[in-house]
Amino acid sequence: MHHVRGGNALVQGASRGLGLHLTKQLCERDSTERVFATCRQPERAHELSQLQQSFPSKLSILQLDVSHEDSIESARSAVEASCNGVDILLQTSGILHDGDMRPETSLQRMRKQDIERAFAVNTIGPLLVLKHFKTLLEAAGEPTQAGTKPFPIAAALSARLGSIGDNNSGGWYSYRSSKAALNQMIRTASFELSRRRGKAIAVALHPGTNDTNLTKPFQRNVPEQQLQHASQGALNLLRVIDSLEFEHSGSFFDWKGERIQW
Ligand SMILES: NC(=O)c1ccc[n+]([C@@H]2O[C@H](COP(=O)([O-])OP(=O)(O)OC[C@H]3O[C@@H](n4cnc5c(N)ncnc54)[C@H](OP(=O)(O)O)[C@@H]3O)[C@@H](O)[C@H]2O)c1
Repeated sequence: MHHVRGGNALVQGASRGLGLHLTKQLCERDSTERVFATCRQPERAHELSQLQQSFPSKLSILQLDVSHEDSIESARSAVEASCNGVDILLQTSGILHDGDMRPETSLQRMRKQDIERAFAVNTIGPLLVLKHFKTLLEAAGEPTQAGTKPFPIAAALSARLGSIGDNNSGGWYSYRSSKAALNQMIRTASFELSRRRGKAIAVALHPGTNDTNLTKPFQRNVPEQQLQHASQGALNLLRVIDSLEFEHSGSFFDWKGERIQW
């Protein structure tokens, strides 16, 4: 049994899919003080708004588009103004397909605009969020007089497809490559976050295969028992997050808590 992490949490990409369920479950935990939920268009995030009505003093919704750094800075300022630090930073933004953007099955199908979009949302955006929230993570990680509390954690939802060592089939160039780069970014940040007085853990997490918009077009190839409801996926991810210790920083785990090779 592990302790349930608590304190202040921020979920980046909270309007739907895994991010929405992670936000809901964090709100339901007694150990959570505040939850900051970010999304691109708060006015269209109806399920998140409903959740906010159930947790009016706990949940705050903030606008953040990872491809606009000024929106990341504004969200950071809003969080900084209302709490002393961030104990749990969960980044979920991810894109695999949208409109005529599809995962590429051959080099011939690669388009510059799709590669750039995948990297903007899957890699560069989460890195910029980490850049702007680093001091808030470190603030939460400062040793306290009161004794031990868990190290803050920065987790990014990656994908097993981003593992270079595990790539035995090819395909899906932009998604795979952007997640591989995200993994390298998390691994690199883990060293920087371990050097300060306010230490924090950085990990990449593979959430398994979940029934969300991201997987919808590809679900017919997935055996029924392998497709999780996003609420189960979120529960599994929070269990893994609760179990992580400082020595796990810089690693890549799946939703069962098993280590994946980079
Ligand atoms: N579902 C799976 O089986 C699975 C498997 C492996 C890995 N993953 C990873 O898990 C993460 C969550 O996936 P999901 O299944 O929950 O996907 P999803 O339902 O498609 O949700 C994608 C999320 O990314 C956000 N997003 C897209 N572009 C953004 C931008 N420019 N700025 C900020 N947020 C942006 C979306 O926000 P908007 O609502 O504003 O569009 C949404 O919150 C992704 O990183 C995905 O790669 C999922």
